Amino acid sequence: MPMSKKRYEDLRSSQWFAAAGMPGFIHRERISQAGYTRSDYEGRPAIGVFSTWSELNPCHIHFRERAEDVKRGIWAAGGFPLEVPCMSLGEPFMKPTTMLYRDLLAMEVEENLRAHPLDGVVLMGGCDKTTPAMLMGALSMNLPAIYIPAGPMLSGRWRGHMLGSGTDAKRWHDELKAGNITEEQYREMETAGARSAGHCQTMGTASTMTSLAEAMGFTLPGAASIPAPDSRHRHMASDSGRRIVEMVWDDFKPSDFVTASSFRNAMLVLVALGGSTNAPIHLLAMAKRSRIPLALEDFDAISESAPVLANIKPSGKYLMEDFFNAGGLPALMSRISDLLDLEATGVNGKNWRENLKHAEIFDEDVIRPRDKPFSKRGGIAVLKGNLAPDGCLIKPSAGSDHLMKHRGKAFVFESRDDAFARLNSSDLDIDENSILVLRNCGPVGRGMPEWGMLPIPDRLLKKGVRDMVRISDTRMSGTHFGTVVLHVSPEAAVCGPIALVEDGDEIEIDVDARKLTLHVSDEELARREKSWKPKHPDPEGIWRTLYADRVSQAHRGANVDILGNPPQFIAGQCYC
Ligand code: FES
Repeated sequence: MPMSKKRYEDLRSSQWFAAAGMPGFIHRERISQAGYTRSDYEGRPAIGVFSTWSELNPCHIHFRERAEDVKRGIWAAGGFPLEVPCMSLGEPFMKPTTMLYRDLLAMEVEENLRAHPLDGVVLMGGCDKTTPAMLMGALSMNLPAIYIPAGPMLSGRWRGHMLGSGTDAKRWHDELKAGNITEEQYREMETAGARSAGHCQTMGTASTMTSLAEAMGFTLPGAASIPAPDSRHRHMASDSGRRIVEMVWDDFKPSDFVTASSFRNAMLVLVALGGSTNAPIHLLAMAKRSRIPLALEDFDAISESAPVLANIKPSGKYLMEDFFNAGGLPALMSRISDLLDLEATGVNGKNWRENLKHAEIFDEDVIRPRDKPFSKRGGIAVLKGNLAPDGCLIKPSAGSDHLMKHRGKAFVFESRDDAFARLNSSDLDIDENSILVLRNCGPVGRGMPEWGMLPIPDRLLKKGVRDMVRISDTRMSGTHFGTVVLHVSPEAAVCGPIALVEDGDEIEIDVDARKLTLHVSDEELARREKSWKPKHPDPEGIWRTLYADRVSQAHRGANVDILGNPPQFIAGQCYC
């Protein structure tokens, strides 16, 4: 491990606080204004505690208290903690999508580190995009950094049913529309589903990304599975505070433990968890910041080599609290240890061989044996074809067996509003074999909101239909489910082939063959392309305009590509 003990005068913060003359005077004068004496900071590493607390982010509502636990650990280890608020990116309230702001938070983290007298950082996130965003910033700045996942909220319960975030809101809404429960019963669930602080307790994007952060070595082992209100979450926070001080003295940075093996381990864990379809887009962006080669196709190759073992909603039956009680992520990793690179290390300075030594599985139905996997189909399948030349994704374990190979007629919607306005119209001759296509919602078009799981039309729900093939150039919530093809690249806004689909065209999906085919001749597509005009709305505001100009396509991580790389596509310019 490339570690050299640092002296105080080597630290960045000493250039501020121990500086001679007036600059040093001003820094000391102003930190004194904040209530600190020389003995609070002299000779101590200054540690940023970057908190994404916000009253508009209920997943992080415990972060004020948790930041105090982190600071307690930092003081105890001889550090000097300084809490810094960062943009919170609360999924439930930011519209149309937090995805538009992932890279803004990444830049905020990077520049907060670059500009301030800090030697290391504890990053506090959890709600979907906060994890990749904060890690991207830390990877770019490459100062010692440790991640504190918010932890999942407690399991929801309603009338004997387990309620999982997002998943059951959607599932029971379908039952409401089918007439199987009443409006009053549906409303009762509002207070039963999210009953504590913490992120979504399904294997949605938050649980997936915090688990992958752990698998990459960015957290203390076991951190990602601890429920937010559990006292062990507080212990993990103060332990992380203690550890970051050691990391600064040892000069132990992300570049010392984030390698190609870390990404490979994260991808294997993604498969074994049956994790979110959003993970590839974030790992691709993080790999770019790490300058480690990673391509969409790598996810498919990995999916073939690992089984889905976690029986957790939305694919499975249980929730994160059950997963924690079953042994948590180290237990799951121990079950695939022969596939992992056990020499990869993490923030505690140990490799996975040591970190998994005491891992045990306490519930074989939650973390399945290798010979009885939850799903044999693999976590994420990457499909290609003339409808998605650069690829698209599907999560087979969350889809229906009978739709894994399917051919049907397309019904095309230009926007979500268009879909919601027309899906239940009696004029549309949609049946369970139809394929719903949603477009103009990709990175350039709308910033990729989680609109990909279009609702099943009410009359089909009443007939008992619960799944159909849906295809879009956008994302869906990691808590959602169904035979949903996402991230079609290139997107409609840059005239990817999805822009040229017409109602009634035949589309064929074949997951085992990894194919997505639009059965329209090349000549006909060329004819349609000539008359194509962009149909996505102009972006509003400075950031969204900059984002639409510089964002890369989904298969490249939908990354704002302004770090020396030209954009792949220009908004409104035809790709074909
Ligand atoms: Fe925050 Fe799901 S809403 S993690």
